[in-house]
Amino acid sequence: MGATEPQWVLMATGRSPTNIAVIKYWGKRDETLILPVNDSISVTLDPDHLSATTTVAASPSFPSDRMWLNGKEIALSGGRFQSCLREIRKRARDVEDEKKGIKIKKEDWEKLHVHIASYNNFPTAAGLASSAAGLACLVFTLGKLMNVNEDYGELSSIARQGSGSACRSIYGGFVKWCMGKNDDGSDSMAVQLADESHWDDLVIIIAVVSSKQKETSSTSGMRDTVETSPLLQYRAQTVVPSRILKMEDAIKNRDFESFARLTCADSNQFHAVCLDTSPPIFYMNDTSHRIISLVEKWNHSEGTPQVAYTFDAGPNAVLIARNRKTATLLLQRLLYTFPPQKNDLDSYMLGDKSILSDAGL
Ligand code: DP6
Repeated sequence: MGATEPQWVLMATGRSPTNIAVIKYWGKRDETLILPVNDSISVTLDPDHLSATTTVAASPSFPSDRMWLNGKEIALSGGRFQSCLREIRKRARDVEDEKKGIKIKKEDWEKLHVHIASYNNFPTAAGLASSAAGLACLVFTLGKLMNVNEDYGELSSIARQGSGSACRSIYGGFVKWCMGKNDDGSDSMAVQLADESHWDDLVIIIAVVSSKQKETSSTSGMRDTVETSPLLQYRAQTVVPSRILKMEDAIKNRDFESFARLTCADSNQFHAVCLDTSPPIFYMNDTSHRIISLVEKWNHSEGTPQVAYTFDAGPNAVLIARNRKTATLLLQRLLYTFPPQKNDLDSYMLGDKSILSDAGL
C-alpha cells in the first residue's frame, strides 16, 4: 500500500437497536473486561424507534482512527472503543472488491485506519440508553467491513467490552447475557432466548420523564455499588439466579403475569441496591414513583398484571403492555395523569416519537 497506489475508500453500514433489561445487569467482577456479577435478560426494541446507525470506512489515505457521533467528532482515546477495534482487527480477513479494484490482505487491516460515523434515531439528550445500541452497532459494522467470520456469540463478547449491555443488542427478541465463569471473559456472552416474532403482542411504551443527562453514569454508579452495597451480593448470588430461570420460563410460555411480576420486582430491587450504595444513588424521581403507583394500582384492581414497568439508570419509565388494547388504555391513563405541557405538545406535533414511544415488538 505505497503512496503511488490508487486511493480508495471501503465502507460498510449497519443498524442496531437498543435493548431494555427486564432482569438487570448491575455490578462488574472485572472492570476492564466488563464481566458482570450476574446474568441478565433483555428485550431488544424495534430498530425503527430507538437505534444507532453506523457507517465505517477504511482507506489508505486516513492517517488515524476517528469517530463522529451525531455529526460531532468525539475522542477515540477511551479504552473501550479501542478494545472493540482491536478485537475486530485481530479477526479481520482478506477483502476483495473487484469492481473497485480493492484487494486487502488480512495483515493490512493492522495498518489501515478507520473513520466511524454513528447516528442515533432518538435524541441523545433524552437520557435513554444509547451506548448499548451504539457499541453493538460499531462492532457489528466493523465486523462487516473487515469481513470477520465470527458468530453472533463471539461478536456479543466483543461488544461487551465496549459496554456491558451492548452485548445483548447483537440479537433481536429476548436475549440473555450469560455472565460466564472464566477469568478471561471467553464465556461471557449473549444468547438469543426467543426471536422478535415469539411474543409480538407486547407493546413497549417509553415515557420520557426527564430529558436531562443522568448525573451518575452506569459505569461509576455500579462501581460504587460493588464497593459499598451489602445488598448487592445477596441480589447477585441468591435472588437473580432463580429469577433468571423463572423469567426464561415466563418468556418461553408467554406468561405475562409472571413476566410482569418479575420485571417490576427486578427493577425495584435494582433501585434498592442503588439506594443501598454509599453515597446513595437516586435514579428515579417523584414522577417515576407516580408512574409506578399508577401501574401498581391498575394491576391490583384488575387482579392480574396488565402492564410491567422497569427503570434503568435514570427516571424514564419503560412500560410493557400485554397487548395493543392495554397499551391504548395505558396511554390514555398516562395522558390523563400527566397532561402534556406546552413544550411536550410542540414535540407531539412534530411527531417526536421519543416523548411517548410506541416500540411495538
Ligand atoms: C441499568 O451497560 O451502560 O441499564 O457496562 O459500564 O457500559 P457499562 O454499563 P451499561 O449498564 C447498563 C445498566 C442498566 C441495566 C441493564 O441494561 O442491564
